[in-house]
Amino acid sequence: MSIHKEVKKITTNTLQKMKQSGEKISMLTAYDFSFAKIIDNAGIDVILVGDSASNVMAGHETTLPITLEQMIYHAQSVIRAVNRCLVVVDLPFGTYQSNSDIALASAIRIMKETGAHAIKLEGGEEVIESVKRIVGAGIPVMGHLGLTPQSIYKFGTYTVRAKEEAEANKLKNDIKLLENAGCFAVVLEKIPASLAKEVSQSIQIPTIGIGAGKDCDGQVLVMHDMLGINAEFKPRFLRQYLDMATLTTQAVQQYVHDIKHHNFPNEKESY
Ligand code: KIV
Repeated sequence: MSIHKEVKKITTNTLQKMKQSGEKISMLTAYDFSFAKIIDNAGIDVILVGDSASNVMAGHETTLPITLEQMIYHAQSVIRAVNRCLVVVDLPFGTYQSNSDIALASAIRIMKETGAHAIKLEGGEEVIESVKRIVGAGIPVMGHLGLTPQSIYKFGTYTVRAKEEAEANKLKNDIKLLENAGCFAVVLEKIPASLAKEVSQSIQIPTIGIGAGKDCDGQVLVMHDMLGINAEFKPRFLRQYLDMATLTTQAVQQYVHDIKHHNFPNEKESY
């Protein structure tokens, strides 16, 4: 029997056991009650309340504008829906980079005000002090390396990271630092599959890949991308499981048609 099926609730320990036994971890983003309920009931291991909410919920070009208050609102909605999966919440840009006191205060607000189970933050060596303080306060921390969207203006582009030796070496060093600082898992975004394989094998905690190949210990996608809600976004790493934009368009067109043709509501749909 899989560990995933054995447990009533997924915890950071469950993810650790999955890595040890070779069972892959499934993770998906969610930002609201209704989708979180469907996703949790469908058997996902981890929901990430990602700061990608800034893009897919609020329509911003980057993840930078979303605030701690907005992340707390999304996380509260998700937590109300979830019975089984682990819920991880992104610390948004500007709420942890300046110093570890501010980082700890932001993480505590998320845990206290939402009931979430863990937080995620981006970066390696630069944020190690903050990771240690947050973990020291009893809050599980997920790291995030490779393409870190909060640094998009430093990178200048969303292309694959760590192709060059120097950046790959920094990532190898950063992931060890995150592990030693007490992170329970690390997201690896858009890096070569061979590098993701190497670092996944070099640490004891699970890696969760997005555009990082099949040898990560788990995979994550943004819900809107995998359901085809965000129809124009088609990067190579994305597998689209549904064409929800088309299905929704057809449903709305049919609804408009039925109203215009005096076909909705009918007698059975009236009191
Ligand atoms: O915010 C987000 O959705 C993320 C994933 C892409 C890992 O950080």
